[in-house]
Amino acid sequence: MRKVLIEPSLLSANFSNLEKDIRQCEEGGADLLHLDIMDGRFVPNITFGPVVVEAIRRTTSLPLVCHLMIVEPERYIVDFVNAGADYISIHCEGQFHINRTLESIRTLGKKAGLALNPGTPLEFAFENAEYCDFILLMSVNPGFGGQSFIPSFLRRAETLKNFLIKSRLDNVLIEVDGGIKIENVQDAVRAGADMIVSGSGLFNGNIAENIRRMRAKIEKELNENSSKK
Ligand code: DX5
Ligand code: ZN
Repeated sequence: MRKVLIEPSLLSANFSNLEKDIRQCEEGGADLLHLDIMDGRFVPNITFGPVVVEAIRRTTSLPLVCHLMIVEPERYIVDFVNAGADYISIHCEGQFHINRTLESIRTLGKKAGLALNPGTPLEFAFENAEYCDFILLMSVNPGFGGQSFIPSFLRRAETLKNFLIKSRLDNVLIEVDGGIKIENVQDAVRAGADMIVSGSGLFNGNIAENIRRMRAKIEKELNENSSKK
């Protein structure tokens, strides 16, 4: 039975009271928390580093997914692991040693992910899938929350899913990040997304209720799909 995970992105949370929003995520049944690490170089924006990850780690037992949008991520893997990351994704763009960095994450006992911007050829995913626990297909250009979903994600996810199944790598999860809301989550699930990142789509109004509503849409999609078979 296919399981689809909900991963709220704290980028859209209230940073003056993160704990309150994290409790809401827990109450709503979030599976993971998504932490966006930006350095002002790989992307124009700057967010936070291991110190804040560590503080979040002390606040919750939910698995933490660190999405590294930084140059030379290999220099910081140990720091994020020590801070409490359970999953770490690195971008392939500008990475000289994709394979080595992915392996270093796994060697430290954590889940390794490779992230691709919307314009990055899927070949990067094909070539590295066997070294990944998850592959992040960005559905916006990284850097900011609240952007619109780029629909090319849908065909890219379908192509990647087929590749993974054909290659007997279907334990590798596909993560979607950017512009996912309660209203369009079914499209992403239908295309093959297993890990659903959502920021502005969840942190608006009642967070727990939003997560439950997103879960209901996901379940609806999974049920409709399985009844077609
Ligand atoms: C964008 C980040 C996302 C962001 C998504 O660069 O990687 O994780 O928080 O935000 P929404 O869901 O608002 O597009
Ligand atoms: Zn992200």
